[in-house]
Amino acid sequence: MGKCLICNSVIDPFMSFGKMPIANGFLTPEQFGDEYFFDMYVAFCPECKMVQLTEQPDPEKMFHENYAFFSSTSSRMAIHFKEFAEHVKKDFLNAADPFVVEIGCNDGIMLQNFAKAGIRHLGIEPSSNVAKVANEKGVRTISRFFDANLARDIVNEHGQADAFLAANVMCHISNFNSVIEGIGILLKPKGVVMFEDPYLGDVIEKTSYDQIYDEHVFLFSLTSIQYAFGRLGMELIDIEPQSTHGGSMRYVIAHKGAYPVSDKVKSQLKKEKELGLDNRSTYDVFRKNCEQSRDSLKLLLQEIKRQGKQIVGYAATSKSTTVLNYCGINSDLIDYISDTTPIKQGKFSPGMHIPVRAYDEFVKKYPDYAVLLAWNHAEEIMAKEKKFMESGGKWISFVPKVQVMK
Ligand code: SAH
Ligand code: TMP
Ligand code: ZN
Repeated sequence: MGKCLICNSVIDPFMSFGKMPIANGFLTPEQFGDEYFFDMYVAFCPECKMVQLTEQPDPEKMFHENYAFFSSTSSRMAIHFKEFAEHVKKDFLNAADPFVVEIGCNDGIMLQNFAKAGIRHLGIEPSSNVAKVANEKGVRTISRFFDANLARDIVNEHGQADAFLAANVMCHISNFNSVIEGIGILLKPKGVVMFEDPYLGDVIEKTSYDQIYDEHVFLFSLTSIQYAFGRLGMELIDIEPQSTHGGSMRYVIAHKGAYPVSDKVKSQLKKEKELGLDNRSTYDVFRKNCEQSRDSLKLLLQEIKRQGKQIVGYAATSKSTTVLNYCGINSDLIDYISDTTPIKQGKFSPGMHIPVRAYDEFVKKYPDYAVLLAWNHAEEIMAKEKKFMESGGKWISFVPKVQVMK
């Protein structure tokens, strides 16, 4: 039995995914022998309602000078972050000479919009290879892990911030209480925090269990976020649901009492109760749904393979590491995974060791079937891959259900 990372209550895992490798740990055959695995158990805290991994690999094992995820590989996400930045500029940066901080800024996909507008900003990005790309774009970025100590240093050097931004990173940080404490130190009395992450409500509704992997230490809900920030003097004041990454939630948070709380927060909290997000039995049903999804996907791939058809994977996403390892899908079923990220190409997928090849290979000879491992980018991919479909190619998807897409 472990302890909750937020409130220290005893927590009991509701599900095991078995041994999992580092989701973004694409590797060469010489590295197969030393590959790192951890037991991936997921637990629900009955006290603060936070859904979390019970064991987390060291952050240095995941975020380093060879981090494989470059945010700007998705053009749709570039547009999303441009809009996010516009919204912040328009609604929250009314002070003279405002200061914006973003943690996990990666290659500068969001902050570049502030940099171009000449707004004072600072990116915090521990993975130095992606931070370097941000700096080269004119985005001022330091390569550190954000926590309360770093927040003090930033205040000493730059003063307090008007806006604290984060996307797809808050749920990555196991010392979350230190991050919240840091935000409290860094934020001006009337400053705002805006961060977005995959939403627990969507994961439960769509059985999108692939949102669970080493980097995703937490699956947030309004209920758990309200608790975590509330105990350190801050308050959830608004929400903005997002369609990105298969269903995300953007949380707007401020010092307690600084702003009124929107009715949207109250009605979404009510919806979470109806969905049972505060109830352990919901997670037992989720586990059964995951097991069913796993069994049907494996059966479907085996059946297609028996017909002598070729199957490849489309996009070597971090999420696919969970699916492939949990379902036991290896290169007997999937010949290779096509991906546009140069650092992943020529390497092998974590755990299952399926070759990752350049996107050109997919275009040169279309397979019979492609497993849509980047289902969260489906819209962008469908628009791009009309020729694959015209040539008779079929998609296999597994969220919200296992199916061959027509
Ligand atoms: N915001 C980008 C990148 C998300 S990936 C986007 O949405 O596309 C998560 C990023 O957070 C990685 O680049 C990782 O290096 C960084 N990160 C991980 N832990 C962090 C921490 N404690 N402080 C700041 N950044 C962190
Ligand atoms: P993500 O789901 O974690 O955002 O990862 C996206 C991965 O998918 C990244 O490795 C790039 C890859 N990708 C493609 O190969 N082709 C595409 O069209 C898109 C949108 C992503
Ligand atoms: Zn708890």
